[in-house]
Order: sequence, then C-alpha cells, then structure tokens
Amino acid sequence: MSLHTRTKRLSVPQLVAMKGQQKIVSLTAYTSHIAKLMDPIVDFILVGDSTAMVGYGRTSTLDLSLDEIIAHTRAVVSSTRLACVIADMPFGSYQESPQQAYRNCAQVLARTGCDAIKLEGGAVLAETVEFLVKRGIPVMAHIGLMPQYVHTMGGFKAQGMNETAAQAIEADARAHLAAGAFSLLLEGVAEGVARRVTELSPMPTIGIGASPSCDGQVLVTEDMLGLGGDHVPRFVKQYADVGALITQACDAFATQVREGTFPEARHCYGVD
Ligand code: KIV
Repeated sequence: MSLHTRTKRLSVPQLVAMKGQQKIVSLTAYTSHIAKLMDPIVDFILVGDSTAMVGYGRTSTLDLSLDEIIAHTRAVVSSTRLACVIADMPFGSYQESPQQAYRNCAQVLARTGCDAIKLEGGAVLAETVEFLVKRGIPVMAHIGLMPQYVHTMGGFKAQGMNETAAQAIEADARAHLAAGAFSLLLEGVAEGVARRVTELSPMPTIGIGASPSCDGQVLVTEDMLGLGGDHVPRFVKQYADVGALITQACDAFATQVREGTFPEARHCYGVD
C-alpha cells in the first residue's frame, strides 16, 4: 500500500512545500465512506463539481448549487482527519465579482471546515483570486480545459494544442500566480504546456489529463473505479471495476430473494 505517514491534516502551506520534493496525490470524493477510505492514502481530496455528472447524473457541471457543494464538503471534512480538503466553487457562484466570490467562498470555508477552494477561469479571474487570497481564502486556480466553460469551448476538448493557445494558458498561469493562487490545476492540456507551466510555477501544478510533468495528479474517483458511466475521458486509467462488483452483489441478493433462500436463518432479526 502507498500510505502517507502523516498524523495530522495536511495544511495548504505543507501542500505547497511538496513541490519539487514529492509528487502530490489527489482524488475526488463527495461522500463520507469514500473519503474515509482514501484519507490515509491521498494528500488532498477534491470535492469536485464533477459530482453534478458522476454523482447526480446531470449532463454538465453547470447545475450544482452552493448548498450541494457545502453538504458534500461537510461530509468529506467530517469523515477525514489527514487529507487537505479542497472544495470546488459551483458555476455562477464566483464569476460575477470579487465581492460575490468572497461571500460564497467564505460560506464554503466557514460552513464546511475545508482548507481551500478551487475555481475555474483564465486571467480574467485573477483579480478575484487576489481579492480572495488577500482576505484569507486559499485558491487553487483551474485552467486549460474548464468544464464550466463547456458552451464557450464547444465541448470538453483538449486545450493548448498550438503555440498561440499554449501561450494563452501560460499567461493564465502567470496571472493566477501573480494574484496569489497556491496551486494551479491543469486539465486536458498538451504535455509541452503542462511542462512549461510546471517549470515556470513556484507553486505546485496538479494535472488531470495533462501529462506526468505536473507536480501531482488528480483523478475523478468514479472514473478510475469503473463507475464513471458513458463519459469517461480517454486518458483515465481504470484501477478497479467496482461497477462489476456492485452488479454482482445486487444480482446475488436478487437471486436469493427470488429463489426464496433469503433471508437465511442467521440473518434474521433476533436470531443469534
Ligand atoms: O470537479 C472536478 O472533479 C474537477 C476535476 C476535473 C479535477 O475539477
């Protein structure tokens, strides 16, 4: 097992200090039982807005409310004690103004006990990042493929595939770093772009579909467990087929009920 050795929750400054020392491991979690299982293994847990798709079966990440992310983040924080917990800000909860962002991020931090927030957006969001960081809210900036921009990007497409696009991502990265972001999440970008951004950044880069050059990696847990449904990105490696196990267990139960062999006497209430 690849367990970490810490005995206390990893803080944001400790996460930052891992750059250049050791690779950072992260997975998403939205519920208590999954979070608890990964707590001794991962460095940080991302309560991603991907739960809109993988948890609620919605067609994009746009339809997730602030109350929903708060409820999921509370469940993750209260069932873990070692991993740093980062909450994703839902679409529409921070883009309007730095003040709107502060109001909503402060609620997320205060009501959940999480360590930091993540938001999506290029250089245009740098002013908001600076506003938040200066007021005590640590920000991970998500650039490259940004699922909340699905309509302007025309789908979930890899980014930075030519030099002009690569330079635009580099400029987004520099703007967020200057604004005080403690980490950059790079999604769906070409390997060269991930390498360039990781080299220029004093803060850790976390990749998803962005090559091994990043300082760490994150995956959507359902995707790597075989629970991702029909829209698993091509870059995802499936580490287990939990979907098949669930089907098998449900089928075993259904077979017993239909055959009249359930419950067995030892599973009846009141029988030792
Ligand atoms: O919401 C999420 O799970 C994410 C991942 C794509 C990193 O942002």
